[in-house]
Amino acid sequence: MKVSKETKQGRVLVVGSINTDLVARAPHLPRPGETIGGHEFSQVAGGKGANQAVAAARIGAQVAMIGCVGSDANGAQRVKDLEVEGIDCSGVEVHPTQPTGVAMVTVSDDGQNTIVVVAGSNGELTPQSVARHEAAIKACDVVVCQLETPWDSVHATLALARRLGKTTVLNPAPATGPLPAEWLPLVDYLVPNEVEAAILAGLPVESQSGARRAATELQQGGARNVIVTLGAQGAYLLVEGGEGRHFPAPQVQAVDTTAAGDTFIGVFAAQLASRQPLEGAINLAQRAAAISVTRAGAQPSIPTRAEVDNAT
Ligand code: RIB
Repeated sequence: MKVSKETKQGRVLVVGSINTDLVARAPHLPRPGETIGGHEFSQVAGGKGANQAVAAARIGAQVAMIGCVGSDANGAQRVKDLEVEGIDCSGVEVHPTQPTGVAMVTVSDDGQNTIVVVAGSNGELTPQSVARHEAAIKACDVVVCQLETPWDSVHATLALARRLGKTTVLNPAPATGPLPAEWLPLVDYLVPNEVEAAILAGLPVESQSGARRAATELQQGGARNVIVTLGAQGAYLLVEGGEGRHFPAPQVQAVDTTAAGDTFIGVFAAQLASRQPLEGAINLAQRAAAISVTRAGAQPSIPTRAEVDNAT
């Protein structure tokens, strides 16, 4: 069931990537230099930004997106897919020469994946593009960013959102190194997974105690609240004021973990936007992410509100 605009509560703006995922399923992930036979191929809608927007929309938020696609068939299809979800794409620009972003995804039979992203038009999302769509930032409650678009545009978004008094969520994915020092004070909710938290904090994160140490370090760097997602081990929340809490994850049989993190972020942002209590927001986000790992593909795996409610 689609949620009508009138019944949607919070308003989420996602600034981020839009990709077409080329997905091969194979018995295992290939090692360097190895060629293996796959047994299934699919082409599906993906991109961390677009996945997060879809997750927020399917759970019931009013969603708008700022991004950049190419002037090609993939770009037109990706925008159509988002509009079908009720997402306002007036902030999605079309680049005249760069192709729409593509992700080469390999999924092993035990549900693990590797992803290589070729940014294409996502790399053309500039601070000027963000500024052109300031009205969309003004109109939302929560702004969500990731790192699949140029860092200067992410920083411009966070700075503008902060100036306009919006709640900011940063999913630092993919993480390649520590963030510039001036970024974290612009972030209300920093949501890395365990790998990203380790890279950002420069500390090992293999357990809850590692997550707590990394979250503390990132909070000391200026992030108001930190949530480290730990896959099957759940999530660790460190709120402003220093109180920490572990949230165990629902245990499921993984088919494909692609976009599980994006589902968590989108649902969490939607709950924040509709002013739900933090614990409930994390809980719902975990339940939605758990459903997504039982299904194949990025956007095809993201559940609706009814599916999350019926699963509990
Ligand atoms: O987080 C999953 C996403 O990462 C995929 O959909 C792929 O497009 C890459 O952006």
